[in-house]
Amino acid sequence: MSATAYSIKTPAAAPLRAPLPLPVSAIETHAALPQLAHDDQARMNVGAAFNTFLAQRMLPAVERAARAEVEPARQARLGQPAADRHEYRRDLEQNLTWRLWSRLRRSNMEMLQQAGRLAVLPQLPALVETCREINAGHDRLELDPTFQPPGYLSRLHSHLMPGGYVAELGDDDIAAGAAYDVVTHAVLGGRSGPASDRAGRATLAWLREHRPGWTPRRILDLGCGIGTNTCVLARAFPDAEIIAVDAGAALLRYAAARAASLGVTNIRFIQGDIETPPVGDERFDLVMTLMVLHETSRPGMQRIFASCREHLAKGGLTFHLEQPPYRDKPLLEQCLRDWDGRYNNEAFWSAMHDTDLAAQLRAVGFPAQHVFETTANAPPLGATTATQEDYGRGGAWYVVVGEKPLLKEVSV
Ligand SMILES: C[S@@+](CC[C@H](N)C(=O)[O-])C[C@H]1O[C@@H](n2cnc3c(N)ncnc32)[C@H](O)[C@@H]1O
Repeated sequence: MSATAYSIKTPAAAPLRAPLPLPVSAIETHAALPQLAHDDQARMNVGAAFNTFLAQRMLPAVERAARAEVEPARQARLGQPAADRHEYRRDLEQNLTWRLWSRLRRSNMEMLQQAGRLAVLPQLPALVETCREINAGHDRLELDPTFQPPGYLSRLHSHLMPGGYVAELGDDDIAAGAAYDVVTHAVLGGRSGPASDRAGRATLAWLREHRPGWTPRRILDLGCGIGTNTCVLARAFPDAEIIAVDAGAALLRYAAARAASLGVTNIRFIQGDIETPPVGDERFDLVMTLMVLHETSRPGMQRIFASCREHLAKGGLTFHLEQPPYRDKPLLEQCLRDWDGRYNNEAFWSAMHDTDLAAQLRAVGFPAQHVFETTANAPPLGATTATQEDYGRGGAWYVVVGEKPLLKEVSV
């Protein structure tokens, strides 16, 4: 397969009169969606706009301060530039502009996560009942009451989500899923569209471009979250059978209710560890992770890749969408991108960005000539959505792909 080569440019600052982010009231409506009171909406919209302001308007000031103050100060002090991003960051952390940007970013993230819980908790009993009723009407949700999530998910409140991905507040809880829906929209600055699903749209666009006419019959989505992106593929391939796996029961209950209320009936949501997905010896034409690899440890990632190979049908492909690796980025940009790894409770963020994902796929047995890095671009979607790579919020993503050849290849 020929594919567009991987190419991700540094996001540019927005013009001064850039439109405000898509408001939280624009979120795709469905029966399980929390009602957002006036003040909930105001908090989310301010958080989304502030998030956009920090990324688009204040980041250039951090960059200017780094060039005009941080780099010359180091040169004057030591007579040489920073050798790596760790040295560069230690200098940056002394700079007032960086410190202000970093502190505001952290506070905004905390505010948004708290705002999500503030919105969801008062209506939790009603939301639980709604999801219970919807999910009682179908058999596409499979939870395992004996399931123990991996420690890196249960111990960590990933990107400051209270309780993390696997929090359970009571019987049939859906709080983590409901909060994820509204908070993700704001954290992405509304730039991922009404359903926060532009990673799924980018995946679909990539498949349409690089495998024209291909209709996968079976798809395995590992680490599906609340299934927003899974639903894009489910709608595009209505005859495909899709299995979506995640560790979080509260995410999956919400995902199943959300999909059902949107009329999506070809996804089975199954609770399990994606390192060893609970799918027996089933095979799939497409096995994918979307924005998942940065949540897993290095050994965990290797087991996930091994499972992808094991569960991939011949002729199928495994597709992994993420943010771009650091390797070809200037040190300052590495530091800016690495903020999440140091201040946003993303424990494996830095390691993942330093990992050669293509080499990891080859290491689990994908033939070298069938592994490649590429870029997935989301089609434009309204004036406020990103059209280029934007720190994971929309537009374009780094992708690594592995194909399982139809025939066993012999060397001659
Ligand atoms: C950033 S979210 C991405 C969700 C989804 N793919 C999307 O595109 O919206 C990462 C998801 O991976 C899941 N995850 C990470 N490691 C996992 C593991 N070992 N087993 C099951 N789920 C896992 C988390 O629970 C979380 O829902």
